[in-house]
Order: sequence, then structure tokens, then C-alpha cells
Amino acid sequence: MSGSARVVLVTGASSGIGEAVVRQAAARGDHVVLLARGREALERVASDCERLGAASVLVAPADVGDDAEVATAVSAVIARHGRLDVVVSCAGVVAYGRIPDVPADVFDGVVTTNLLGPVNLVRHVLPLLRQQDAGSVVLVGSVIGHIGVPDMAAYVVSKWGVRGLVRQLRVDNRDRPGLRIGYVAPGGVDTPIYRQAATYGDSVGRPPFPVSSPERIARRVLEVADHPRRSGQVGIGNNVIRLGFTTLPWVYDRLVGPLFTVVAQDLVAPVVHGPGNVLATRQEHNALRGKQGSALLGMVANLVALASRRFRRRS
Ligand SMILES: NC(=O)c1ccc[n+]([C@@H]2O[C@H](COP(=O)([O-])OP(=O)(O)OC[C@H]3O[C@@H](n4cnc5c(N)ncnc54)[C@H](OP(=O)(O)O)[C@@H]3O)[C@@H](O)[C@H]2O)c1
Repeated sequence: MSGSARVVLVTGASSGIGEAVVRQAAARGDHVVLLARGREALERVASDCERLGAASVLVAPADVGDDAEVATAVSAVIARHGRLDVVVSCAGVVAYGRIPDVPADVFDGVVTTNLLGPVNLVRHVLPLLRQQDAGSVVLVGSVIGHIGVPDMAAYVVSKWGVRGLVRQLRVDNRDRPGLRIGYVAPGGVDTPIYRQAATYGDSVGRPPFPVSSPERIARRVLEVADHPRRSGQVGIGNNVIRLGFTTLPWVYDRLVGPLFTVVAQDLVAPVVHGPGNVLATRQEHNALRGKQGSALLGMVANLVALASRRFRRRS
């Protein structure tokens, strides 16, 4: 075991941003612990991490919404390494649809994974991190934890909750100055989360322009782990949207619907209603990238689709 290698635990490590984080930690020679529900997808990323140079790789299948499973996974890490250096909460899911249209178990599933998941995680890692008075916890939220958007109520409230949790953890752990609490709020990122989402509305989602790579967000996550006061907002788009939401709420509320339709939805792809990966893993669809194509071309395709719908209605 290499002396300077850190022990890095990442939830949601089998896809998208979490996968990018463990790959980067592996490439710098850290001990990586990969947590998500689907074991096979974790094993795929684990072999890549070994090839990339990880000091060691541990696969810990668990549902972050299940407190007992998280407790077991964290105990296994502590038994193996005896310490934790960086803990990243990245597991997340999405549901599209108005509140009356999204089944209650799906709505609750989003809040359970996105908000109670990190609560379960910190419940079990904090005692050790506080005892060490060293290490970092980084919670991945979203720009949507700062604003409102149409048809994403479960995701919106879960990510506002994550932002509150970050602040609360900072307040509660002021007596441990060596313990760092970080926060990263991405905008649109090219990952499979949009196609994995539960869908109960009229269209499917897509990452809104400007789209970041999962690797870019992962770099920010690992920077924030060392410098938690560094801004977790990734991209200028986040700041513009947050400013509009806060300072011009009446303009924002009027414009967000039409803008969201053009920028953050795919009006061309077929709509298949269902719970996506909210209630159970669909690990065969997990991957580093989402591959939904150019966001700008997607916006053009949406404008054409809207124009042809209007034309059909008139004729
Ligand atoms: N992509 C974006 O545009 C974007 C923007 C802002 C914020 N974010 C946030 O970034 C984080 C990562 O998202 P992503 O885009 O990388 O998503 P992703 O590619 O769909 O990956 C989600 C990961 O979370 C795991 N997961 C889902 N539910 C889980 C549960 N209950 N317990 C344990 N693991 C679970 C998934 O594996 P299993 O299904 O096998 O468990 C998978 O490894 C999320 O918190 C998301 O909200 C993403």
C-alpha cells in the first residue's frame, strides 16, 4: 500500500461523473472504492481503475437510499483501509413530469437517492472523519438546486435539499477544522442520466447548452476536495441562470418554460413513459458519457419540431 495514496470513496461510481472521478483518482494512484447498485457496471469501471494505476480497487454494491446497505459498505472500507480521505456523493437520478403525473414511489425514489442518500452516507462516514479531523466530503448537487425548472419537481427539491445539507454539515462540523465539506453544482453534463430518467411528461430530457464533459466536473470535484471554498459552480451558464432566477423572478418564471423546452428537452426522440433507473438499476445503460450529440444542433432540431407542430395545428 503506497504511503501517500488517498482512500477515495465515490457513490454513483459506475457511470457519468462518478465514473470520471474514480478514473481520475485511480490515475493519480489512489485507493478507490466504487459504490452503486449494479455490481456488473461497477466491475467494468473497477477493471479500468486497476489498469489506470489505482493503489487498490474495492467494489461496494449498495443502494444509497438504504441506510443499512450504506453502513455495511462503509464498514467494509474501514475494515480494509482503516481510514477515509475523500468521500464523494455522486449517485443521482432524475424524474420528468408534473407532480400529479409522477407516481408517488418514483417521486419519493428521486428524493431518497439524491437527498437521503448523501444523508445516509455522511451518517456513516462522519464518525471516522471527525475522529481523524482530516479528510473531505464532497456532495454533488446541481445548478437545479438553485433554481426552479418545469416538470422536475422531485429533482428540484432533492437538489435544493443537498445544498441545505452542505451548509448544515459545515455548521455542524466547525469544531473539526481538518474536515472539509465541499459542494459541486454542475450545469449540463454529457452523461446517461437524461436517458436513464423516469419520464411521465411529453418529451425526454437532454443536457442543456453549454454541456460539460464528466471529466471536467470530476476535476472540479477533486479540486474542491482539497479546497472546499473553491466555487462548485461549473461554467458561466450557471451564474447567469442563478442571477436571473434571483434578481428577476417575474421574468425568469415567464421565460423558463419555453427556454427549457428548447434547451433542455429532446422533442424529436420517442417518449417512453416509465420509472427509468429510479426504482432499480439499469446498469446496462450506464457509461462514462451520454452521447446525445451536439446541444446546439439539438436546439435547432427542437425549434424545427416546434415550428412543424405549429404548422400542423394551423393547417
Ligand atoms: N449529468 C448532468 O447533466 C448533471 C447535472 C447536474 C448535476 N448532476 C448530478 O451529478 C450526479 C451524477 O450524475 P450523472 O449525470 O453522472 O448520472 P449517471 O451517469 O446516470 O450515473 C448515476 C450513478 O448513480 C448510481 N445510482 C443511481 N441511483 C443509485 C442509488 N439509489 N444508490 C447507489 N447508486 C445509485 C448509478 O448506478 P446504479 O443505477 O447501478 O445504482 C450510476 O452509477 C448526480 O447527483 C446528478 O444529479 C448531473
